Amino acid sequence: MKSIPPEERLILALDVPTKEDALNIVARLGGYVRFFKIGLQLFMASHFYMVDWLGDKGFNVFLDLKLYDIPNTVIQALSIISQHPVSLTTLHAERSILKAGVEATQGKPGILAVTVLTSMDPGDFEAEHGKSVEKAVIDRTKIAIETGCAGVIASGKEAPIIRRNCGKDFLIVTPGIRPKFSEEKDDQKRTVTAFDAIQNGADYIVVGRPILKAPDPKKVVKELVQEIEDAMKE
Ligand code: C5P
Repeated sequence: MKSIPPEERLILALDVPTKEDALNIVARLGGYVRFFKIGLQLFMASHFYMVDWLGDKGFNVFLDLKLYDIPNTVIQALSIISQHPVSLTTLHAERSILKAGVEATQGKPGILAVTVLTSMDPGDFEAEHGKSVEKAVIDRTKIAIETGCAGVIASGKEAPIIRRNCGKDFLIVTPGIRPKFSEEKDDQKRTVTAFDAIQNGADYIVVGRPILKAPDPKKVVKELVQEIEDAMKE
């Protein structure tokens, strides 16, 4: 397992509508969380303000825009992203896009390929694509590795088959985490606990609503970090 301390393996998804909301969350949880994800919603609302603010304060930033366009357009967008303090960013896993993205950025930021969204139902996916989620995830991870990506975004359910089929030399970042005590899945379908995600081979977990909607977000953060730590010991 890569030598990343447990508290740095939790990425908090700042899925909130305004920069004021985001600043409030960081004020409350910034002592416990080192890595924040900015997705489409907050990016639309705050452009690069929160990215730069978090970078200035020494936090790690994952800018999750899941870009999917012709290579030239993706390269131009990445050239702007790379001028900001972003450690990781996401592209959809199509060979020409990943190849162009990796060549343009040279690791700054690291590119993560989105394999299959964790909100996707396996039956629906297979009916639509003519192959199983597992097969698609393995195929797309292989493309990510061949094109030189830093890693993939994948559900904790698929992490073990990714590690078995594709090796260990790249990052698996896993959203769709639901705490042990939570029955609430929201729109996520292929969920796992933080403990299982790390045990299954994820390097980082991404968590949004289970923290943001909790009556005591700090408590949930501490429990998640503990789960990560426990999983790393086993
Ligand atoms: O609230 P929740 O914990 O479900 O949030 C998960 C976060 O991870 C969201 O910001 C979502 O955009 C992101 N994500 C995901 N599935 C992917 C890639 C990213 O849920 N495959």
